[in-house]
Parts: sequence; C-alpha cells; structure tokens
Amino acid sequence: MRIIVVANASEGGKAAAQIFSQELQNGAKVFGLATGSTPLSTYQELCNSNMDFSDCTSINLDEYVGISASNPQSYAYFMHQNLFAAKPFAHSFIPNGMAKDIEEEISRYNHLIDENNVDLQILGIGQNGHIGFNEPGTSFDSLTHKVALTESTINANSRFFSDINDVPKEALTMGLKSICKAKHILLIAYGKNKADAIDKMINGPVSEELPASILRNHSNVTVIVDEEAASGL
Ligand code: GLP
Repeated sequence: MRIIVVANASEGGKAAAQIFSQELQNGAKVFGLATGSTPLSTYQELCNSNMDFSDCTSINLDEYVGISASNPQSYAYFMHQNLFAAKPFAHSFIPNGMAKDIEEEISRYNHLIDENNVDLQILGIGQNGHIGFNEPGTSFDSLTHKVALTESTINANSRFFSDINDVPKEALTMGLKSICKAKHILLIAYGKNKADAIDKMINGPVSEELPASILRNHSNVTVIVDEEAASGL
C-alpha cells in the first residue's frame, strides 16, 4: 500500500485528481466511483480539470434500495450533481435500487463488472471499516448483493436526510471480491472519526470484521489520508 498523507481534504482532492490524470494517460477507460462526502473534493478537481471521460465508462459501488434516481438523496442524483453534469462518461452504471426484481438487478450488475474491468476504483471508508456498503462480517468472497445497513451506518448517513427515519434500511452494493477486481484501488479518508478504521485497516488483522482490511491482499492500493485520519497510525 502506498500511503499519502495530505494536510486536508482540498489537498487530498488534488492528489487524487493527479492519480486519475495519470491513469487516463496510461489508457484507463473504466473508473469505479463512490459517493459520500469524501470523494467530493476529488470530483470538484476533476470537474475543474481538462480531463475528458467522454470515451470512458463509470461503475458506481452502491445505491440505496427504495429511492429513485430523481430523489436528491439517491447516489444516482449525487453523481449527476457532483460529477456527471460537468464530466459526462460514455456509459455510467449505478445499481438500480428501484428494480422490481432485485435478484435480476444483482446479476445484471455482476455481469457489468465482469464485462468492464475497472482500471481505477475510488473508495471512501465507513467509521466501522465498511467499503461500499459491505458492513463488518461480509464475506471476502462477496459479489454484488443486497444488504441491511447497520445502525452505525444509518446514523452516520442520517446527516444527509432531514429525518433519520427517512434513511433507507437497505442498499445494493458491489461485494468485496468485486471491488478487489479493480487494477488500482484508491482509498481516501479525512477526519478524526476515520482514524480508528484507517489504523485497523493498515495495522490490524486482515479480517472480515474490518472489511477494508481486504485491501492488504491487493497488490496495487493507494491510500490518501489527511493528518487527522492518519493520527492513529
Ligand atoms: C457510505 C457509502 C460509502 C462511503 C461511506 C463514508 O456508507 N456507502 O461508499 O465510503 O459512507 O462516507 P463519507 O465519505 O461521507 O464519510
């Protein structure tokens, strides 16, 4: 793992955008994308850059079940607002949390991941070490699946909703095995509330109890952390 410590999220966004730029120059065509507050400074840098993704494909990690793409809390809406409106991709895939047949949607998504080998996957991390929506205890062999969100994740994500009861209880997420198929993984974390998860990911046991620890089995991982998130290392 290469670990890059930056002063703050704004510097982290610049460092991450540089990695996107290098990957594009090296011919990357498929980008695995994430939501949450962490990638915002990166997406802002991409939007303000002259990088061109119009012949690229994006595949998002996850989406809530039961809210539509037009709902401002959906991850589809988030991606449109924060990246795709300014930087369109030729094809952008996000799990459909409104699919009538969730099993069919899961197999469609697994198929897409197999067809489009992700060159660079951006990841945030939850306070409990989750990546995507793979909560502690998820099998390292997991592919795309439906999950029940833990109380800790519902609480953490409730800041984006006017009422905690509006936070969806389920989501569709790429699995840990699917995420690790990416050729290069870029995990980003900012703030003191991520310090414990980052310390355990880097120094703790490789264990399904800390989903992000699976990245230690991957040969090409870059971690960008600010000083607060690095404070437990
Ligand atoms: C959510 C998302 C994750 C994200 C995590 C951290 O649960 N599903 O992909 O990494 O939250 O979010 P934030 O970056 O807002 O701290």
